[in-house]
Amino acid sequence: MAVTSRRAHPLPVRLTHWINAFAMTCMIMSGWGIYNASPFFGFVFPQWATLGGWLGGNIAWHLAAMWLLVGNGLLYLAYAIISGHLRRRMLPVGPLWRDIRAALTFRLKHEGHGYNAVQRALYLGVLLLGVLMVASGLALWKPVQLAWLADLLGGYEIARRVHFIGMAGIAAFVVLHLALVLLFPRTLAGIITGGPRLAVEKETRP
Ligand code: HEM
Repeated sequence: MAVTSRRAHPLPVRLTHWINAFAMTCMIMSGWGIYNASPFFGFVFPQWATLGGWLGGNIAWHLAAMWLLVGNGLLYLAYAIISGHLRRRMLPVGPLWRDIRAALTFRLKHEGHGYNAVQRALYLGVLLLGVLMVASGLALWKPVQLAWLADLLGGYEIARRVHFIGMAGIAAFVVLHLALVLLFPRTLAGIITGGPRLAVEKETRP
């Protein structure tokens, strides 16, 4: 094994992270507008928090940002899997229970070069939620052509609830994510500039 080095946040990760943050914001705000037109819980979102102005505009924003989100997400996944980023930085999750207890008592260290088990679980969880959102969104968008997908999710009406609950999970992640960035502000520079170079083992052919 030879040793080489890599940035904590390689350029493709940084680019896709910020494109994702923009696309997610558009998806959530326009999605709230679409929900408001036919709410299934006893509340609606305030108009100022929605994107698009009216139902037609909400849907136009939602479908346009969807292409950006999905294309960008596929690029991230392809890079993360092929380059080994996913395996190196997020797998295995590690001692989750120990790190949750340490986080709750403010004793969890953020070393800046390697995600702790709480971060790994949260990042993997939000990636899986993203996949669930795209699957349930496709079922809602094309319920006739993709009837099998809607059926797999329990039918159109259940797929709507799945899509909403997935959104709530992602919104909760974002609140926690931003709170952690506020607690460890130096991590923000890393996801913008790339952060420190880390040593990684490089496989060499005999
Ligand atoms: C303004 C909004 C955001 C800010 C300021 C922000 C900030 C950050 C920072 C500082 C890191 C690096 C953490 C570290 O080095 O310990 C990070 C990583 C990450 N963020 Fe965000 N983030 C934002 C929005 C989002 C959104 C909306 C999502 C997804 C819904 C997201 C998902 C992730 C993921 C999955 C990683 C790990 C990336 C990897 O290493 O592959 N972020 N973010």
